Amino acid sequence: MKVELQGVHKYFTSRSGPVKVLENINLLIPHGDFVSIMGPSGSGKTTLLNLIGCLDDPSYGKVLLSDRDTSGAGEAFKEQVRLRHIGFVFQSYNLLPTLTVLENVQLPMQLAGGKSYRDQVEQAMTLLRLVGLDGRAKDSVMRLSGGQQQRVAIARALSNLPGLILADEPTGNLDERSSKEVMEVFRTINENQHITTVLVTHDSKAASYGRRMLRLENCRLVEQERL
Ligand SMILES: Nc1ncnc2c1ncn2[C@@H]1O[C@H](COP(=O)(O)OP(=O)(O)O)[C@@H](O)[C@H]1O
Ligand SMILES: [Mg+2]
Repeated sequence: MKVELQGVHKYFTSRSGPVKVLENINLLIPHGDFVSIMGPSGSGKTTLLNLIGCLDDPSYGKVLLSDRDTSGAGEAFKEQVRLRHIGFVFQSYNLLPTLTVLENVQLPMQLAGGKSYRDQVEQAMTLLRLVGLDGRAKDSVMRLSGGQQQRVAIARALSNLPGLILADEPTGNLDERSSKEVMEVFRTINENQHITTVLVTHDSKAASYGRRMLRLENCRLVEQERL
């Protein structure tokens, strides 16, 4: 999926007036690219990702997904975009603790409808194989380590075959080894399935998996030189 931000500004209102978080963000991410956006805590990374992911609207400017302006679209449209075309991965995994590994990966397919139970299971198993956890399909997710839970979350994010993956500090709760495993999965998916990937993180090692690195600084997006 191609992602484009045109003159995006974002303000939040606080008791002492509007607070500027993003100022004139212009960004073009071609289909299949892998972009990392770095910045310290509070710099607006989650805000930016939420705008791309149709979870929030810009104060000014446009967000276009596959050339379609989503910033002016209705809630029902945005909900469908989120469910069918975007895979979200969060710092805290956000798995459903009462479901098995397999059931967690199946869930977005159930919500989207249109697939038989058998096809859902087959697809979920294919994705679990991709993240190296097909052997744990019947386990409760609570029995898995943090790194394994995050890999289940990635499989779940992929279950409706999205064109875009948005990852918000996906290694934030992980040790170095698990972080590496998770980032290798993101890289493999991006390389083999050409899914556009946007990662926001304050971890420079994780960010280095991106093909392009940007930084949020004083509400603006700046290109980061490669080391
Ligand atoms: N819904 C909101 N209402 C008011 N202020 C917000 C809201 N969401 C984020 N902010 C503020 O916007 C700034 C950027 O937040 P955020 O995007 O979460 O940063 P990051 O993800 O880089 O840590 C912070 O100062 C935060 O307090
Ligand atoms: Mg954040």
